[in-house]
Amino acid sequence: MRKAFFVVAALMFLDTIVQLYLAAFGAFAESLLGEDSFAYHFINGYFILRGLSLLAILFAALARAGKNTVWLTVGIFALTWVQMLVFVVGGMLTGAGPENPTVPGAWAVATHAVTGLLIIFCCYWLMLRARRLDKTGSVARPADAAQQPAATV
Ligand code: HEM
Repeated sequence: MRKAFFVVAALMFLDTIVQLYLAAFGAFAESLLGEDSFAYHFINGYFILRGLSLLAILFAALARAGKNTVWLTVGIFALTWVQMLVFVVGGMLTGAGPENPTVPGAWAVATHAVTGLLIIFCCYWLMLRARRLDKTGSVARPADAAQQPAATV
């Protein structure tokens, strides 16, 4: 189960890199494809990345990765919804939208890239924890494990 958790965590991290690549494709192909240029990014973000984050919650629990790691997977799942909320809240705050784009609206929704970076960082961190769990049976870094007071028998 630990191996399966690591594989899901590694796939999810790789998918965030794909998501960033598809965002760049969206930006560079927008003059050619219009707003459809972000369709691949949207589909990957909405279905695949979100689906992998749900799987990661399940496998983190089944692999007994510990409370903090399970909460990290829940946090990543929640952040994938934040990516949508950024557009909703940005639109509410600035009155902007796909039909009437404005500069203040662009400043507001640009936070999407920063929360996206946070998702990439959290997925990398989760992958490292999952790998340690698979290799050593503990998510703790060896340095941290060494500081743990010796279990009193
Ligand atoms: C500069 C970088 C980025 C740009 C310009 C960008 C742009 C967009 C756009 C325009 C959409 C909406 C697509 C639509 O509704 O048709 C979208 C959706 C989404 N993006 Fe990004 N994105 C970027 C980076 C990221 C990153 C790094 C992640 C996560 C790793 C991410 C995750 C998502 C998700 C999950 C959705 C779907 C949100 C929903 O449920 O509606 N984005 N992005």
